[in-house]
Amino acid sequence: MKRVITYGTFDLLHYGHINLLRRAKALGDYLIVVISSDEFNWNEKHKKCYFSYEQRKALVEAIRYVDLVIPEESWSQKRTDMHEYHIDTFVMGDDWKGKFDFLKEEGVEVVYLARTPEVSSSQIKRDLYDPASVGDNQTDHSDINTDPGK
Ligand code: CTP
Repeated sequence: MKRVITYGTFDLLHYGHINLLRRAKALGDYLIVVISSDEFNWNEKHKKCYFSYEQRKALVEAIRYVDLVIPEESWSQKRTDMHEYHIDTFVMGDDWKGKFDFLKEEGVEVVYLARTPEVSSSQIKRDLYDPASVGDNQTDHSDINTDPGK
């Protein structure tokens, strides 16, 4: 069985994440997704998440390509994860190209996949600050006639 691993924050899950996970799974048989904990995100990546670690984990676990989700707590855990989880292939989007080549020393294949253009969690957050990008009363369905007989 070929085991694949990938790392990320996966906040505000979007189709770029799904594309990445689908292609990662296609590289093997078993996909492990390592999701940045809230502390790691804030202290090391200087990012604040909209969804908590537990919420992001529940979302990613529901994706059919994903077999296991574990937390990312430090930069150094990658080397040990490769052995602990018997990894064959390490995958990241190409925004990280070259940054994890050192993992080849641990005997794994390192693959960077092309990012899906024009979508990111940060962009979604920025867009939602813009009132023009969201309609009012999104959950008010009172003006919709759902009975075709009337
Ligand atoms: N990813 C991708 N295509 C996108 C966005 C993300 O392939 N359009 C990939 C990243 O390259 C990474 C994984 O999805 O391997 C998780 O990325 P993450 O940083 O959580 O997502 P972003 O949307 O890039 O988040 P942010 O804007 O906060 O950096």
